[in-house]
Amino acid sequence: MKVRTAVFPVAGLGTRLLPATKSMPKEMVTLIDRPLIQYAVEEVIAAGVERVVFVSARSKRALEDHFDRTPELEYQLQDSGKTEVLAEMQRLSSMCDITYVRQKNPLGLGHAVLCAKDVVGKEPFAVILPDDIIMSKKPVTAQLIDNYNKTGKSVVSLMEVPNEDTSKYGIVKLGAEEGSGLYELDGMVEKPKENPPSNMAIIGRYILTPDVMEALEHTPRGAGGEIQLTDAILDVAVKQGVYGYLFEGKRFDCGNMNGLFEAVVHFALERPDLREHAINVLKGASKLY
Ligand code: UTP
Repeated sequence: MKVRTAVFPVAGLGTRLLPATKSMPKEMVTLIDRPLIQYAVEEVIAAGVERVVFVSARSKRALEDHFDRTPELEYQLQDSGKTEVLAEMQRLSSMCDITYVRQKNPLGLGHAVLCAKDVVGKEPFAVILPDDIIMSKKPVTAQLIDNYNKTGKSVVSLMEVPNEDTSKYGIVKLGAEEGSGLYELDGMVEKPKENPPSNMAIIGRYILTPDVMEALEHTPRGAGGEIQLTDAILDVAVKQGVYGYLFEGKRFDCGNMNGLFEAVVHFALERPDLREHAINVLKGASKLY
């Protein structure tokens, strides 16, 4: 069955980016000239997704506004002959159908995904954590969908992390390799305090089958007292099998300052309109410090 829907859990508080996120959603923090959420939404659309579901909370209005029409701005751009910018604004507001659901209590990522159950229905769906921004030739969501189409099972994105960082991620136990970076998963544990099963971490891109939603309904609170998506995926892995895929691309954790800064540098260096300026700035700075 086609993956038509992508769920974006965006109800978190974003405390690691305070004070930037005091009165602004984390997903609206900008990476050069557009908010993080726009990169993530464009990625899923490029992968053929038709419906986007934002699981949001109070004070996330800016996210809705960003993808809405702004007639007064459009008139102004039209009058002043800024047709290119106008076309870009129109593209943004007609990009996709967005449905909003609320997570009334921040009970964790698994709980946030479960809040989208009725909207998703009994179909496979993508889950996207928009503070993970991934620079790749082929959108990572499309890479995962290809592997879902091959296996018919849930597929999570994997990345190797340093041993000392395993306690920050969901960590998997790899099973048999199916070829080209696709592995059966023999286990997974959220933020292991000791004895991680490997140094392969789950990153914020998933294609999940409807049985993960069903598992979430019975998933008790886990690490950090939250309902963990990893625990529900493990439940399904044990019963029917789940795959992990070592994606092609470079991932930036834009939910913290260091990752966000790194992303700004790399994205600027990749953009033809900014590349030369970015190189000059970096060269100049390296002489000064
Ligand atoms: P994070 O662990 O990054 O938490 O959540 P956070 O609150 O967004 O940020 P920090 O750690 O305080 O800086 C991972 C993803 O899960 C969503 C977040 O919005 C983010 O996309 N999430 C988390 C929810 O939607 N609801 C929750 O209850 C928890």
